[in-house]
Order: sequence, then C-alpha cells, then structure tokens
Amino acid sequence: MSVLIQNGTIVNADSTVKADLLIEHAIIKEIRPGISSSAAETVVDATGLLLLPGGIDAHTHLDMPFGGTNSADDFLTGTRAAAIGGTTTIVDFAIQARGTKMRTALDTWWKKAEGKACIDYGLHMIVTDLPDAGLEDMNDLVREGVASFKLFMAYPGVLMVDDATIFKALRQTAKNGALICMHAENGSVIDVIVQQALAEGKTAPIYHALTRPTKAEAEAVHRAIAMAEMAGVPVYIVHLSSEDALNQVREARDRGLPAFAETCPQYLLLSLEDVADKGWDGAKYVFTPPLRERRNQPKLWDGLRKDNLQVVSTDHCPFCFEDQKALGKDDFTKIPNGGPGIENRLQLLHHHGVGLGNLTLNRFVELVSTAPARIFGMYPKKGVLAAGSDADIVLWDPAAEHTISAATHHMRVDYSMFEGFHVRGNARDVYSRGELIVSKGGFIGKPGRGNYLRREARGGAWK
Ligand code: URP
Ligand code: ZN
Ligand code: ZN
Repeated sequence: MSVLIQNGTIVNADSTVKADLLIEHAIIKEIRPGISSSAAETVVDATGLLLLPGGIDAHTHLDMPFGGTNSADDFLTGTRAAAIGGTTTIVDFAIQARGTKMRTALDTWWKKAEGKACIDYGLHMIVTDLPDAGLEDMNDLVREGVASFKLFMAYPGVLMVDDATIFKALRQTAKNGALICMHAENGSVIDVIVQQALAEGKTAPIYHALTRPTKAEAEAVHRAIAMAEMAGVPVYIVHLSSEDALNQVREARDRGLPAFAETCPQYLLLSLEDVADKGWDGAKYVFTPPLRERRNQPKLWDGLRKDNLQVVSTDHCPFCFEDQKALGKDDFTKIPNGGPGIENRLQLLHHHGVGLGNLTLNRFVELVSTAPARIFGMYPKKGVLAAGSDADIVLWDPAAEHTISAATHHMRVDYSMFEGFHVRGNARDVYSRGELIVSKGGFIGKPGRGNYLRREARGGAWK
C-alpha cells in the first residue's frame, strides 16, 4: 500500500519545508519536492495544509478506577476522540494494586486496550508500593516496554508513597534506564488543610482548589528533583500548574540537572478566577493539581518557550458531570478528580500558542509530538516526519474554524472544560502507520487496530 501526499508543508520541530511525502507499507519512505504521482497507488493533494507528525499525548487515564468509579472514556472512545483531534499515540497509566505485582496491572491494562485502541499506545506504570522484590518487578516491566513509572506524593491512603519508596524507585532507574514521573504535591500538608476546611463546613467544589496551595506543589517539585539529584537520575514532573513549581524546575535546569516537566491546556487557558463563582458547576474543574490564579498562565507560556517545560499533555481523565462528579455533591473530597481534553490538545495549543503568537509552529510540534517521543523512548519511530519513521501524519488545516462543545465532541463525557472556545486550526485527515483513520474530521479506522508500543528506556534521552 502506498500513498503520496503532494504540495503540503512539512513541519517538524526543527524545520518547515514545502515537499511531497511518500508512504509505503506504514512507513515514511521519502520526503522531497517533486515526487512523481506515478510513485504511489493513492495521491492526495495537501495544498494549503500542514503535515505534522502525529500528536503524542503522554498523559491519559482511560478506563481508570478512581474514587469508586471509572474514568468515562475507555480505550475505544478515548483513542477515537484523540485521533479526531490529531493525536496518533497516547501513553496511558496502568496502576499497580497495593501488595500485587506490577506485571498483573500490565496484563489488566493490555486487556482494557485489546480490541478497542484505535491508535498506538504505550503504558506508564503507577507504583503504589515497592518492596525489595518489586525492584526486579520494575526491571521486568522495562523489558516489556514500560519505560516510565509514575509515583504520587499526593492522595494519602490511596496512591501516595513515602520518600523512601520514591528514592528507591529513582535509584533503580539508574540501573534500568526508565524515567520516573512525579505527581508532585505535598499530600500530607494538603490533607491537614482539607480536614480543617471540612470541619469548617467548606464542602463546595471550589475548596478543592483553595486547599491545595501552590507552595505544596513547589515543595514537592523541589523534593522530587533533590531526590533525583541524589540518585543521579533524571526526573519528569507531570501536570505542572503554577509559577512557584515552575521556578523549582527552572532553578534545577539552570544548574544543568536533567529535570523535565509537562503542563496541560487547562493550566494554560483556565484559571481559578474563571471557576470561583460557578458553585456546583465547579465540580467540572475538580482535578489535581487544581486551577491556579490567572497570573500563573503567562509564566507557564514563558516556560514552554524557554524549554523549562518540555511537553504539553492533557491528563485526560473524564468523569461525567451528571452521575460521576455528583458523587461529591456534599463533599468536595469525594468528587472524582480529573477532566476531559484528549480531543482538544492540538486545537487549543495551535490556536492559543501559534495563532496568538505565544509559540512558533516548530515549537508547537516539539511540545505536542517530538519531545514526548524523545523523552518517553519512542523517537524516531514516532514524533518526526522523516524517512523510516512510522507514517503517523496529521494533515492540519491552519485556517479551519471550530468551536469546542460537548454537543459536538467525541469524548464520552457530558461536558467540555473548554465549552465555547473558538479555535482556528484543526486536523482534517489523520494517518496512523500509513492508514487513513480520520477523513475530513470523521473517524474511519477500526477499533482494536492500535498497537501496544514497547518503548525504549533511555532515561529521558537526556544524555
Ligand atoms: O485530577 C487528576 N489529575 N486526575 C488524574 C490522576 C492524576 O493525578 O493524574
Ligand atoms: Zn497526577
Ligand atoms: Zn494524571
């Protein structure tokens, strides 16, 4: 099977060229101007369109158990929505149940994806306990392509682990090359503040945000980086939300440490001020870390420009407002934490980044595709348009107009965090390993066609 895409503009993290692109057997065969139409069975005209490497969302939670329910999108509905938005690879999180082997969780998550995944997917492993035998368990997972592990400094009694566990896991990555991803918030301190709020009768959704100070995030980021420095390994901070936390990453990077961090569209585009007077509707924005004061947003954009933040992912973790967020109607601590966004990441970052002059087009590509491919062991198979790479290609119409709404989105959730946001720029057609899976914005791929990705453990590829 061969496809020739002619007359488009090929955008990579380090270059923008007008050229033709030839796909053969799922792989990019050649990129150059003037490839003859006779070279392929199918010829596509991409005049006026950009060709981007397929988006990589390195932080999603599909079909994830949390707070007595499961996130609303499974591997079918979540990856289908991702594809429609121009994402061709996700890295989701499997969760080790306490007292069990991580291997069991890996099998469970493979089953969740089986017959459903519409795009390729990798898995991080969430570590909830790590006896000495668990260190060998980590190595076993690395051999299975699980090149990264997430540990929590928050959610005491549920997912939080102590510093000894974090330090042991970090030290193990010096041996196996995996990357530790940290949910960095001081969960013990936050718990004290939360208990006091509840005792004072403060049960509304807004108290989720008001009980999680940015200092609790910054302290944990500092501690995570300090432990990684002592272990002599890189560390990756997930869903960084505030200037205070960013300052810790910047200070470490200025000292030459391999500290990496991601942020998410919600922290760049939504603020505490936006939700302060929403009452119960504020439950739609209960995720962790919470929304921050608006003044943090320009600092995060600056972090993206200056490479103190390397990745934009979604932390997609949808819960329906009607019947899932409602679990916390009388107590904000019982609202399942998470929000939807897997479909809208490229649209939002293109419009608010490239369109409004906050990012160059090349940096946009780097943040949504190339950097996550490099950091999480998928490059150059993924994350770049180059001969020999998987033909994961988005035909992006930079002039397409779209208004984001729950009425038209494809995620299985009854609200949008970005309801009414108008964006310019959208995915028109999407190829995954050379197969057209989205045509003119509609999904035409087959559920279950997505492959599990065995990622290489390269310690964040920082050396
Ligand atoms: O609120 C969030 N972020 N839910 C998903 C779990 C996590 O901490 O990433
Ligand atoms: Zn987290
Ligand atoms: Zn998450």
